[in-house]
Amino acid sequence: MKYHIEEMISKNKIELKVSELAKKINEDFDNEEILLIGLLRGSVMFLADISRKIKNVSEIDFMSVSSYGNNMQTSGEIKILKDLDVNIENKNVIIVEDIIDTGFTLSKVTKILNERNPKTLKIVTLLDKPDRRIVEVSVEYIGFIIPDEFVVGYGIDYAQKHRTLPYIGKVVKDDKNE
Ligand code: IMP
Ligand code: MG
Repeated sequence: MKYHIEEMISKNKIELKVSELAKKINEDFDNEEILLIGLLRGSVMFLADISRKIKNVSEIDFMSVSSYGNNMQTSGEIKILKDLDVNIENKNVIIVEDIIDTGFTLSKVTKILNERNPKTLKIVTLLDKPDRRIVEVSVEYIGFIIPDEFVVGYGIDYAQKHRTLPYIGKVVKDDKNE
């Protein structure tokens, strides 16, 4: 597929939003310690930036899950490719995610993590595409609500590419017939 990328959210807007989200989290958690869990790989840029603005991050860990599906679609099933190394029992946990689409990934991940008895479990996502939601997920901290477009950049990929773009861009097909 031939395509190009059009900027949707600038680097500057992302920076401001990350600060705003961190501020809310700091207000909510006061001086309590927080364990951040990044979902690989899309959340790494967001986690790197927001984690340095949250006051009491005690630990950072990662989990990698994959959806059985292809290209721009996600299916209902996920499998854990890499589980956490840390124990989350009795800790304040925040899952850091790049984007919520159908909601399958986060609903499954929160179910798995809740079974491990964290003290609190919340979600922060940079992007949300509510028009695509199939399963409900309660998300406490949302950066930007975006329309139903396929996006890349700031960690987010299309076929593993474009993760290092400093802004969020939408993927636009050059030829609609392809
Ligand atoms: P969900 O399970 O459908 O909510 O999918 C969430 C995951 O699908 C995200 O963590 C991304 O990895 C991927 N995804 C959803 N929308 C996009 C997009 O627009 N661009 C790139 N990846 C996406
Ligand atoms: Mg992801």
